[in-house]
Formats: sequence, C-alpha cells, structure tokens
Amino acid sequence: MSTDAAGSEPAPILLLNGPNLNTLGVRQPEVYGSATLADVVELAERTAGELGYGLRAAQTNHEGQMIDWLHEARGNISGIVINPGAWTHTSVALADALVIPEVPIIEVHISNVHQREAFRHHSYVSPLASGIVIGCGIRGYEFAIRRLVEVVD
Ligand code: DQA
Repeated sequence: MSTDAAGSEPAPILLLNGPNLNTLGVRQPEVYGSATLADVVELAERTAGELGYGLRAAQTNHEGQMIDWLHEARGNISGIVINPGAWTHTSVALADALVIPEVPIIEVHISNVHQREAFRHHSYVSPLASGIVIGCGIRGYEFAIRRLVEVVD
C-alpha cells in the first residue's frame, strides 16, 4: 500500500472517467441510467471513505489530459478505478499511460458492453486490470472501489 508523506494515511484512490461521461443522466438513459456523474462521484467518495481511503475524482473529454493526470499520479495514489469510455476500445496511448503509476487498476463499464456493438467487445485496458466490473450500472463504481481496496490492502 502506498502512503502519504507522513506514512500514516493511505494515498487516495484515483477515479477517472473518460469522454462523454460528464453527460451521464442525459446521454442515452436507456443504456446508462438516470444518475449523473456527480452521483457517481458521491457514491465513490462515500464508499472509499467508509473503507478509510480518500478519493480523487476527475473526468475529461481530452485524451492527452487523462494521460497527463496518469503521469502526475505516479507515487501519489493507491490505485485506479477507471471508466475509460470509448477510449477503452481505441487507445493504446491510454493503456500505455495506465501502467505508469504502477498501482492496481479496476476497469468499470456502466453498460454491458458485451451485449452491444462488436467494436465495444475489445478493451485495451482489460489486460492491465486486476478486475473488471461491467453492466452493473453506477453501482459498478462502488463494487470497483471495494475490490480495489481488497487488492491494495
Ligand atoms: C462505457 C461503454 C463504452 O463502450 C462507451 O463508449 C462509453 C461508456 C460504459 O460505461 O458502459 O462511453 O464505458
């Protein structure tokens, strides 16, 4: 487990959401549900807090921004929960950046990507992930944080 400078508290969990996830609640509610990204962050913060971890949450529609955040996270976080959105299926650059912090990763997808178009069936992130939560709606973020803490502790 990675700790803060004083060595007393665990380093925070990094929660990353990729492109278009800022529109949760509005975008295709029949696929992604009616909860918003703020609801996701609140659920994740509550779950992490219950387990004794802080949470750093960020969402971006810009791939380079997410890659920069992963570079900056090295040495400062305990683990990563990520919903990479469509970059899951396209981005070697994101996959390369995800290994840089050298911490456990849990991949989350709100929808069951395997019930959807064939292009959503491949993930560049899954081979790097300690675990994957797919098709559990936004509860998946809670499950992912609980599992991440089991892996990290
Ligand atoms: C998603 C699934 C992806 O295929 C899609 O591009 C998303 C959201 C999900 O949470 O179900 O943006 O990652």
